[in-house]
Order: sequence, then C-alpha cells, then structure tokens
Amino acid sequence: MLDKKLNLITKKISTDYEELFSEVITNIKLEGRYREFSDIARISHKPQIAYDFKRNKEITLWCINDYLGMGVKENVIKAAIKATEEMGVGAGGTRNICGSHTKLKALENELASLHNKDSALVFTSGYVSNEASITALVKIIPDCVIFSDSENHASIIEGIKKSGAKKVIFKHHDLEDLEEKLKHVDINCPKLIIFESVYSMDGSISNIRALCDLADKYHAMTYVDEVHAVGLYGKTGGGISEVQDVRDRLTIIEGTLAKGFGTMGGYITGSKNLIDCIRSISSGFIFTTSLSPAIAAAATESIRYLKTHNLERVKLFENASKVKHLLKTSGIEFIDHGSHMIPIIIGDPVLCKKISDTLIDKYSIFIQHINYPTVARGQERLRITPTPGHTDSMIEQLVFALTETFKENGIL
Ligand SMILES: Cc1ncc(COP(=O)(O)O)c(C=O)c1O
Repeated sequence: MLDKKLNLITKKISTDYEELFSEVITNIKLEGRYREFSDIARISHKPQIAYDFKRNKEITLWCINDYLGMGVKENVIKAAIKATEEMGVGAGGTRNICGSHTKLKALENELASLHNKDSALVFTSGYVSNEASITALVKIIPDCVIFSDSENHASIIEGIKKSGAKKVIFKHHDLEDLEEKLKHVDINCPKLIIFESVYSMDGSISNIRALCDLADKYHAMTYVDEVHAVGLYGKTGGGISEVQDVRDRLTIIEGTLAKGFGTMGGYITGSKNLIDCIRSISSGFIFTTSLSPAIAAAATESIRYLKTHNLERVKLFENASKVKHLLKTSGIEFIDHGSHMIPIIIGDPVLCKKISDTLIDKYSIFIQHINYPTVARGQERLRITPTPGHTDSMIEQLVFALTETFKENGIL
C-alpha cells in the first residue's frame, strides 16, 4: 500500500536502513496520516464504554465494528470460557495437522446453513478469507477474468493482485459500466464479479439481484463480501443476500466473524465442490494455525443467537435513526444510504484528526478519523457506528459534542 512518494524513498540506494525507515515515517507525519493507536480496554458489562489508559478515563465508543455488542454478550463470553476449559487455549495446529477441532466443524456447519449453502470454510480473518480465496479461485481457473467494484476492500484488491488474474475495474455500483465491460470479454471465457454488499466507508448497499442477473447473462461467477452485513441484516442475520433473497444465486458468500458476530475470523460459503477445491489448494487456509476453540465456540454461539433473536438488530436500527435524526436537526451533513453506517466527510486529514482528538479529549467520545489510504485523499471522514446499547443520552451527548467541535473549527 506504499504510495509513489514512499516508493521513491525505498528506491534510494543506501544501507542506512534506520534512516530510510525514519524518512518514510517523517513523510507520513507530514501528510497528517501518521497512525496513533489507542490503548483501551472494553468493559464487558458496559458494552459501549472502554477505559482509555492514555487519558485515564472512560470513553464512549462510537466507531466500534462489534456492531451488535455480541463480543461482550454473556452467552458468547460463556461459550468461549467453556470451550477453553474443555479444550485449552490454542488450536494446536493447522487444519491439516491437529487443528481441525470439533468447534470449527460446528462453526462451519452453522455458517453453511446461515447462507443456505452446502459448505463453509473458516479462515483466521475476513482479510485472509478474501485474499486466500480469490487467489485460490484463480489457481483453480487460471483464465478467469475478474470484474471488481472500484470501491472494493484492500483484502479483495490484494487477492486479485496476488492471483495475477486479468482484472477489470467497474465504477462503484455502476451496472451499466459493468455490463459494458462484460460485453468486451468472450462469453465463453470464465469470469468472476466481486463486490461488497454494504460498503463500510459510504454505507451504500449493492443491488445483488441485478448483479446476479448480469452474471447469469454473461456466464460469470459471483463473489459477495458481506463483512459489514452479516448478523445485522436479514431475518436470521444472513446479510443483504438474505434480505434480497438471492443467497442461492451467489457463487461465494464471504463474511467475517469479527463485526456483527463480535468475535474473530473470516469465512466463505459455497457449493460442496467449490469449497472442497479451495480447502485443498488455498495457501492462506492450509499453512496457518486454525482458530482457537474459544473463538470458534463463541462465534457459533453468536451466529445461533442472532439467527433466532431480532432484538439487537431492531435496537441498532432504532439508534441509527435517532443519531441521523439529531444530526439532521443540528445541521450536520452526513452520507445516508439507509444502512447503519453514518459517515461524515471532513475532507482534510489534519482537520479530521484534530476533530477526532477534540472529541475524545474534551467529550470522552471516540470516533476514529479515517484518512488515506483507507479512503481517497480529500475524502477523509469520521464514521459513526451506532450500536444497540447506546442510550438516548449517549446519542444526545454525541451530537452535542460534534456540533460544538464543528462550530469551533468553522465547519458548521
Ligand atoms: C469489506 C471488508 N472486507 C473484509 C474485511 C476484513 O475483515 P476482518 O476484519 O475480519 O479481517 C474488512 C475489514 O474491515 C472489510 O471492511
């Protein structure tokens, strides 16, 4: 993910490595995109609160990806503890060597049923599942041409790059552009269309049915990343493909266990043969230690719970509506595609960081500033993620703090 400037520096012929590293960091700092990590601890009995060790105070989390609070839910914690007591902490090996434990088998069964597919395969993260599956698919079908939405996640981009497949980028959500590009490839050539169901940086939602129609017309496979949708959307938490009733039309549904399900790990689901192929040849699946029994058991509990309980989803969307309503009445502009994400464009990396710092220092509100390379330069933003556990007074405090901070900085 190095930009041109950084590449220039690394191309310098020098063996003073420390100086090279230091120059790169200086440049990143000059651009206002040096990443400072927080030092926080979530408090399991107060789902929206964490203790900030840098500032020695409690803060309210408004950018957490544990969208439904499942990571601190009692039944999920208990499942992790029980599995650890029964089976120990580590998986003990790769899937091939001792690491295919019974909690993973249960998890894969649960995921296959969630997405109405024959089989599922669990990876160590959503990132790995994208990178490793896309690379493996192209190993299986070397002539496959990949059509990728221009706003796809880094893990998809890296997977495509690593696969060496011919790639065609289509404009974000633009079905006409995609069709125009599909037309130019031989109908008999294998093709794969990759897109996300909910784009986390703008909160937009794909028309999966229309994408599947195009895929059928041009004989393409489909790959949907449901990372920001699983658990949250659909009657049983099966994501946007469940809402749009198109699970059966998709070749691969990919997801994470780390966001809506509150734990960790990633997965793909698909036909028996497809999953068997990827299981057999994917390097990123084969050559790494599998998820621990605790994580697998916790994820299974979380998925099972969300299949039959709607409360968290209902509360999340109620809270998202409340935040949006208050922002509107306060005159704060945000992007609204009807999803749970609430992005506010600031458009300047230094100002974005300054606002984020003020919010946490002065108001104990944590909203991470999102700068390049996560978003394009000039598109720097704050991205608010409401959760079911945010109270009305937390929401009022959030909008008050944003209003005051924006006024102080002359953007309201
Ligand atoms: C669209 C998308 N896909 C995949 C991932 C990676 O998922 P994980 O955090 O489980 O590695 C992310 C992470 O934020 C993402 O936004």
